[in-house]
Amino acid sequence: SMTIAHAQPALAAIREQLQQVGQEHLLTFVDQITPEQRSALLAQIASLDLRSLPGLIERYVRASSDAGKGSSAKIEPVPYFAADHTSKDRGWDREAYARKGRELIGAGKIAAFTVAGGQGSRLGYDGPKGCYPGGAVTGKPLFACLADWILAAQERYRPATGSIPWYIMTSPLNHEATVAFFKANGYFGLKATDVMFFPQGVMPSLDLKTGRVLLSQKHEVALNPDGHGGSLKALYTSGAIDDMAKRGVEHISYTQIDNPLVRVIDPAFIGLHAASPQSSGEMSSKMVAKSDPGEKVGVLCKVDGRVGVIEYSDLPAELAQARDADGGLTYSAGSIAVHMIGVEFVRRLNAGGGGGFSLPFHRAEKKVPFVDLSTGQRVEPTSNNAVKLEAFVFDALPMAARSIVLETQRLDEFAPIKNATGSDSPASCAEIQTRRAARWLGGAGCRVPYKNCGAVDAVIEVSPRTAMDAGELLVGGAGAAKVPAAIPSGAKVVI
Ligand code: UTP
Repeated sequence: SMTIAHAQPALAAIREQLQQVGQEHLLTFVDQITPEQRSALLAQIASLDLRSLPGLIERYVRASSDAGKGSSAKIEPVPYFAADHTSKDRGWDREAYARKGRELIGAGKIAAFTVAGGQGSRLGYDGPKGCYPGGAVTGKPLFACLADWILAAQERYRPATGSIPWYIMTSPLNHEATVAFFKANGYFGLKATDVMFFPQGVMPSLDLKTGRVLLSQKHEVALNPDGHGGSLKALYTSGAIDDMAKRGVEHISYTQIDNPLVRVIDPAFIGLHAASPQSSGEMSSKMVAKSDPGEKVGVLCKVDGRVGVIEYSDLPAELAQARDADGGLTYSAGSIAVHMIGVEFVRRLNAGGGGGFSLPFHRAEKKVPFVDLSTGQRVEPTSNNAVKLEAFVFDALPMAARSIVLETQRLDEFAPIKNATGSDSPASCAEIQTRRAARWLGGAGCRVPYKNCGAVDAVIEVSPRTAMDAGELLVGGAGAAKVPAAIPSGAKVVI
């Protein structure tokens, strides 16, 4: 038949390409699958960058090296703008920069950008992480938490036109589910034409022992998204950057999907990134002071004179523990994965068409379900069996000519959901939301109930539509009218 006449040469050619890179096992079951499955498998294999595989396997599986490891670079603490802008050493004119930021937002030069292509494997949630409940009381999905922030920013900074475009990076594994979720939820009140989705790239998942690419089905290669660092390429190759240029967008406000308190659009940070003499307007970062030397967050540092992030596992212990004369951690700048990124910077990184650009990979050992080649059975591994290769967005920081760091208060904007239980879990996130709300409301004169242990005796969620910061709950602020006189013990309250 036509199909077979057409499929045979493709099969032979692909078998030969696979043999050249030691991956011919991917065709083990090619005679046991349907013609449709076979064409899908061949198309999938054809889309992989096979020639780069042997080098990657040698480096990341056999030698198990990692982009950040084993370097002899000179590490110094990073200078930063303090959360307390009145600070003696690190103070700055917050109002002037916030005004600049509001001007840029008002002129339509800022887009929101959220990376939501991850697999959320630690949380163990089956679906796009953005669909997971984020609101402490409402249980509204994480996507809605961020959408509400954008709506609030539109109401305040762009009342005339009402739009701040929102770009969302998905992966081929969750793209359709994400788009369907937005449709089903009316884009959470945003205009459908202001929300753009594009999938990131993928990498084959590799067997931890042999470096062989795993099959997730007899007819399917195991793929994983290529890391949040893949966003800098996907923004370009998807056409998102061109779309931004058409809309007049100059800077991108980069956030992750898993932090419902994230300030998706932050005028003061935008102003510093775009207008501070210390910034080239290419890539800027936010940090919170690390809670203790062992906290598992990447640390913003100067590496050979350039701003960069060192993963917690790569920061030498003596540096992680080092203290200043005042007792504070010398390397305290914990990255919260919030960045401002210049549209022109993304263009520059992709100069040459985007095909050639990629950040270094990091290896992560994970559990990846696979088909056993000898039995044909699918196996759900109970321990790590695979290496995933992922790029990290902060590896682009040293490519910026001048990069600034802004410190923020942890309680105000950092409550990530990573794990099912314990730290950085849905429970800890709800607790932080409540503590933040209690502090804001208490500051505005509301009586908040506390237990003897000091915990808030209620669950409280403040919508960004009501207040984007503590100040908006004070007399004369946008949300002042919504502050109750008191919150009853044990209540669940949405403000
Ligand atoms: P994490 O590195 O915390 O990963 O992603 P994750 O996928 O959410 O969860 P685990 O590691 O499987 O448990 C941080 C942010 O980067 C995005 C995630 O969606 C999240 O917003 N991300 C991560 C991507 O967009 N693509 C990726 O390939 C990886």
